[in-house]
Amino acid sequence: MSDLGFSSIRLQNLPLVYKLLITMFLITLGIGYIVSIVNLNFQYSMMDGQPGLTAADLKRAFYGDRTNTRLAAKINGGSMEQYLPNPAHKNTILNWIQDGANQDQFESTIKPILQRNCVRCHSSEGIMAQRPLTSYIDVMEVVKIDRGEPPALWARVAHTHIQSIALLLFLTGAVFALTSVSNKFKALVVTIPFFDLLADFGSRFVAKYSADFVYVMMGTGAILGLSVGVMIVLPLYEMWIKK
Ligand code: HEC
Repeated sequence: MSDLGFSSIRLQNLPLVYKLLITMFLITLGIGYIVSIVNLNFQYSMMDGQPGLTAADLKRAFYGDRTNTRLAAKINGGSMEQYLPNPAHKNTILNWIQDGANQDQFESTIKPILQRNCVRCHSSEGIMAQRPLTSYIDVMEVVKIDRGEPPALWARVAHTHIQSIALLLFLTGAVFALTSVSNKFKALVVTIPFFDLLADFGSRFVAKYSADFVYVMMGTGAILGLSVGVMIVLPLYEMWIKK
């Protein structure tokens, strides 16, 4: 069966301008990939309160923390406990959250505690102006149970990523198909990343319901990175270094 002459095209034999174009594309793609890893670190590594990006960060980000609200975590063993010198106040707030955080009790008992101990920082004039604790509505923001990534946010990130990464995989795959490795290996390297991409964003969605899917995310993410690495390095090697 004819393959339209594709098998006679080799990267080494392409005109110089094509080699340069492919080279610049692959190098820029590689740099973009590294920057995306840096971005991932900035966005998620402090999720669990410890430096370093781990499964615990991803669980916190995508599954959430169902046992606690942000306010309770901060005043009960967290970094804000020090500002509640009276332990009775801490229990008053924790009980209020536990009992459903209603507004009447907020106005009568919780608000005065926050006024005295917290709003000097947590108000528009304080150092934590971005997290005011002056009104019921403000405080409810940190009393919600953290259920991980909302589906709407997932959809916003996933649709652009799946489409744009698919396009990049298509282009890198088209270049990789011109290398001189075996057809079987080529077939694997150009198809696996697509399955991986779908599995990665699929597991990110499912992780909201079952935290252990972050391990699938990490695994598929690693395989995707590895495949992209092979699709970048091998063509560069064949164009510029090989004999
Ligand atoms: C001296 C200033 C200061 C005071 C007083 C203070 N905080 Fe904070 N608060 C901060 C800073 C800075 C952060 C961000 C760093 C951190 O989370 O430890 C923060 C973070 C928080 C957060 C997490 C906000 C978020 O968006 O994740 C909560 C909740 C919180 N504080 C509650 C309180 C409560 C309740 C009090 C009073 C008992 C209080 N804080 C008193 C400075 C303050």
